[in-house]
Amino acid sequence: MARTHRVFIPAARLEEFFAPVRAVLSERGVPLRLGRLRPRLELPELACFDLRVAGSVWRGRAPYVFPLMATMEDMSYPQEDGTPLECLPGVDWVVLGGDPAQFSLALGQASSICRHEAVELTPYFEVAGPLPRQRQESDVTVRLRKKWYFVNHAAVTSHLDQLLALPEERWHETGYVAVQDHFETFRPYIEARLVREPRVIVELGCGLGQTARSLALRFPEARVVGLDVSRESLRVAREKFSLPNLEFRECNFADPFAFDDGSVDLAVSSSALNISDNQAGTADETFRILSPGGLLVNGCIFEAFHSYWDFPQSAFTPTRSNLFLADWLAAAQRRELGMELHHWTRAISTHYFASGRLAAFEGAFSRWQEGVRHEPFVPYDYAQCTGFMVAGGSVATPEDLKVPPAHHLDAMEDILAACERLDRAGRELTDMTWLTVASCTGLFPEAVGFLAACLPRAAGVIQGALDTNLLQYIRPQAA
Ligand SMILES: C[S@@+](CC[C@H](N)C(=O)[O-])C[C@H]1O[C@@H](n2cnc3c(N)ncnc32)[C@H](O)[C@@H]1O
Repeated sequence: MARTHRVFIPAARLEEFFAPVRAVLSERGVPLRLGRLRPRLELPELACFDLRVAGSVWRGRAPYVFPLMATMEDMSYPQEDGTPLECLPGVDWVVLGGDPAQFSLALGQASSICRHEAVELTPYFEVAGPLPRQRQESDVTVRLRKKWYFVNHAAVTSHLDQLLALPEERWHETGYVAVQDHFETFRPYIEARLVREPRVIVELGCGLGQTARSLALRFPEARVVGLDVSRESLRVAREKFSLPNLEFRECNFADPFAFDDGSVDLAVSSSALNISDNQAGTADETFRILSPGGLLVNGCIFEAFHSYWDFPQSAFTPTRSNLFLADWLAAAQRRELGMELHHWTRAISTHYFASGRLAAFEGAFSRWQEGVRHEPFVPYDYAQCTGFMVAGGSVATPEDLKVPPAHHLDAMEDILAACERLDRAGRELTDMTWLTVASCTGLFPEAVGFLAACLPRAAGVIQGALDTNLLQYIRPQAA
């Protein structure tokens, strides 16, 4: 049932959020109203919700908290067992801070799912009362059994017949595969940085071939080659997309690419290069085949970037082998290619914490102490930092290009320094973030102890947050 969706937003940031939110909502014909300024927001006033995913239910007394949850994409597709999505009935949100553009995007998605009749932005000065009560084991039954990102050979193989039988616009019904054509997302980066019309284009990890198809249509004079390790994906791509300037070939990132030096003018990749467990080698090979002035545009999950509100969640998450930017930058520099990064702020979904899927973090601290900065690829469900790495073409490396360290813990000094620079309102927001995490994860005290021990400067920041409002959450867990 349509209803007004209430969003509580820090008064100090209302102006900044208002325009992007209005833009997104007006695209969807959803009116935006402004609520009356609330000096104090009592959390128990906020609506409760049940989140239904794949037939299971996550009961939260929580409002939907941004920026802890920046995207709903992982809940907004049909699930493995075909259960229709029924999520987010009348969710209310509390904004703690974060990026207005990302927020607008998430709100826009929520509005389509929930069919809100209107959205009301209510500015507040301060939040009072506890965030959701401690999670109890019995609360959590979320089973997210598939992800967009990890489309792989096995998934395609088990749906091969369906994929071959269905027209492209119905591929999503298989429920498994990445069915998006990413060309439009790539287009601005390609068009801004190409220095000449490409004659040879490759897509690295082309999957089912939709993006390669669109490249072939956009550049009819070029030869486009979609490359992937999965024969089944390539079979679908070949059967579905037949164009005179398009072909699909088998290729494994672990091996040298079957292209001559300097023979490719544009290399595009979407959600694939991060899967390579040979980052340095794949980077070298990619830049080897680029022609002088050739361009690489890669969009995928990156290693995490850090912001104050990431802390202390970031301590839990080794970066794993998302795109290992240091290797790519070094390879680009060896060939004197410019590189720029465009990224969206990382977000951690509180429901990952709440769903108890924390086993992957176990031992993260000891591994870090042992010097492990880069772990082998495993599905990276917990955090996202998605963005674009663009190299070559007309790209000049920005002077302030910052490649994130390979392990979040290596960024702690930066994060702490950022915390110290915050004004009072910023500190309060950070504390609220901590509070939410503390309410969701039993690992929190371990992280606090660890950070305080290994980074003495952390102790002050941690103590500050404890003094304000965290203690009540941490004590029972520590006991
Ligand atoms: C997440 S999918 C992305 C597919 C497509 N680019 C898209 O965005 O929809 C990752 C793709 O990388 C391919 N891939 C995984 N490991 C690879 C490897 N070692 N060499 C080449 N391709 C690989 C997979 O087969 C899959 O098609």
